[in-house]
Amino acid sequence: MKGIVLAGGSGSRLHPATLAVNKQLLPVYDKPMIYYPVSVLMQAGIDEILLISAPDYLANYVALFGDGASLGLKLSYAVQPRPEGLAQAFVIGRDFVGDDSVALVLGDNIFFGAGLEGMLARARARQSGATIFAYAVEDPERYGVVTLDGQGGALRIDEKPKAPQSPWAVTGLYFYDNRVLDIAAGIRPSPRGELEITDVNAAYLRAGELHVERMSRGYTWLDMGTHDSLLEAGEFVRTIQKRQGQLVAGLEEIAFRQGFIPLARLREQGAALARTDYGRKLLAIAADHA
Ligand code: G1P
Repeated sequence: MKGIVLAGGSGSRLHPATLAVNKQLLPVYDKPMIYYPVSVLMQAGIDEILLISAPDYLANYVALFGDGASLGLKLSYAVQPRPEGLAQAFVIGRDFVGDDSVALVLGDNIFFGAGLEGMLARARARQSGATIFAYAVEDPERYGVVTLDGQGGALRIDEKPKAPQSPWAVTGLYFYDNRVLDIAAGIRPSPRGELEITDVNAAYLRAGELHVERMSRGYTWLDMGTHDSLLEAGEFVRTIQKRQGQLVAGLEEIAFRQGFIPLARLREQGAALARTDYGRKLLAIAADHA
C-alpha cells in the first residue's frame, strides 16, 4: 500500500501567519504540522509516501525530509498547482500509486488514540473498497458528514450539509483500493470548484463498498484550519507529551518501532536533536532498547 499526504490549500484562514509560510509547516507545539499526518501513515506500516504541496513550498518539504531515508521511508514529491480539491491527489499521484492500494491523509489533521494502530491495520487489511474514519463533533456542518444505519453502515455522505442529520464528521484520512484512480479521474468539480473527496466516497457508497470506522470518544481528532484550532492542537500535544512523557508523532520512534530504521539510526537522530525534549526522548527510547 502507498500513502499520500496532501499539504495543499492556501491557508487563507490562517493569514497573516501563512502569508509567507505553508500552513503545514507551522509548528504544532514542538514539530511541524506535517509530522502528525505523516506519523499516521507510518503507524499504518506505510513506507512509500508521496507528499503533494503547493508549488511555492515544495523546496521546504524537501529540506525537511529529503528522500526520507533518515526515517526509513521512500519519499517522493509532487506539486498541486492550485487548490482544486482533495480528490485531485489521485490524479496527480496516479503514476505513484500504480497498481497498488493507497491511503490519503490531509496535511492538517491530527489523530491520536490508543487503538489507532489496530484501526489502521483493519482498514489496511481490507482488499476491496474504501474505508473512511468518522468522528462525532459538535459542528458537523464544517465537514463531510456520513449518516449511519443501526449497524454502523453508511446510508449517505454529504459535503458540508447545511442541516446535518448526523454528528459523524468524515476525517481527513481515507483508505482506497486501486479503483480510486479511475473514480477520481471521472468526477467533475463541485460548485466551489474542487474535486471533492466526498464525491469519490459517494461513488464507493453507491457500489456498496464504503466502510466506516467510527472513532469513539477514546480518540482525538483535530484539524488545524484556524488560529484557535492550531493553538488548541499545540496545547493538546504539549499536555500529552509533558504528562505522559511520550511523543506524539515522534517520527523516528515510529520508524524504529515499525522496523523502518535500526536502533543505531534512532540513536543518531536523537543525538542530532539532543538539545530538545524531542531528541532526548528519542535517545531515551533507544537506551530502553539497547
Ligand atoms: C475537507 C473535506 C471534508 C472533510 C475535511 C476533513 O474539507 O472536503 O469532507 O471532512 O476535509 O478535514 P475542507 O478542508 O476542504 O474544508
